[in-house]
Amino acid sequence: MSKLIGSDLPGYYRIHAPIYDLTRAWFLFGRERILAQLARQWPTCAQYAPRILEIGCGTGRNLRRLQHHFPSARLVGIDLAEAMLEQAEDALGARVQQRATPGLPGLQLVHGALGEADLGGSFDIVLASYMLTMTGAAQSRCVAAARELVVPGGLLAAVDFHATPIPLYARWMARNHVHFDPGLRQRLGADFNPLCSERHSAYGGLWQYFLSIDQRPR
Ligand SMILES: C[S@@+](CC[C@H](N)C(=O)[O-])C[C@H]1O[C@@H](n2cnc3c(N)ncnc32)[C@H](O)[C@@H]1O
Repeated sequence: MSKLIGSDLPGYYRIHAPIYDLTRAWFLFGRERILAQLARQWPTCAQYAPRILEIGCGTGRNLRRLQHHFPSARLVGIDLAEAMLEQAEDALGARVQQRATPGLPGLQLVHGALGEADLGGSFDIVLASYMLTMTGAAQSRCVAAARELVVPGGLLAAVDFHATPIPLYARWMARNHVHFDPGLRQRLGADFNPLCSERHSAYGGLWQYFLSIDQRPR
C-alpha cells in the first residue's frame, strides 16, 4: 500500500468496524440528506442505469441507501480497511474483490486505496461521504482521483467535516484520523458546476459540516 497513507487506518477500523454504524449515527450528519439531494439532482430523463462509485464506502451503509434511491444502478464501493468491508459484505451480501469489472450488474466491493486500485473506468456519480478528511497525506491525490473518476456531465457528491472553532476538539478528532479542512469543499468542486452547496452546524456550533454536489463540465 502507498507510503502516502501514513496513518494506520486499517488498524483503527479493526477496532471500530463492529461498532461503527451504531456510534457514527450520532455525528456523521448529513448522509441521508446528500443521498436524497443526489436522487433529486440526477436527471429523471436519464434512461440508462447509472454507474455509481462510493469512495471510502466503509460498512456499506450509503451503498444500501443508494440501492434504494437508484434501484437500477450499478454500484461500486472501494475501501482500504478490510474490517469495514467485512461488515459491508455481511450487510450487502456482496463479495470483496481486488478490482471492479466494468459491465457487471449489481454491486461490487473493491479492497484498496483510492487512486491505486483498478475501478474499471469512470462513473456517472462519485460519492465521498466522510472519507476525504480522513485521507491525511493522500488527500490531494484522492481529491484528484475522485474528480477524474466522474464522467463529463456526471456528478461528484460529498458530505464531510468543514471546520470547528474549538482547537481542543480539532486535536481530539485528529487523534481519530479526522482533519478539519475548510478549503476541501472548494478544491473538490473547482471548475465543476455547483448544483448543491450547503453548510450546517452540529451540536450548537461544535463543528460545521458541508454537503456538495458538483457537475463535471461536458
Ligand atoms: C468515516 S468512514 C466513512 C464510511 C462511509 N462512507 C460512511 O459515510 O459511513 C471513512 C472510510 O474511508 C476509508 N478510507 C480512508 N482513506 C481511504 C483511501 N485512501 N482509499 C480508500 N478508502 C479510504 C476508511 O477505511 C473508512 O472506511
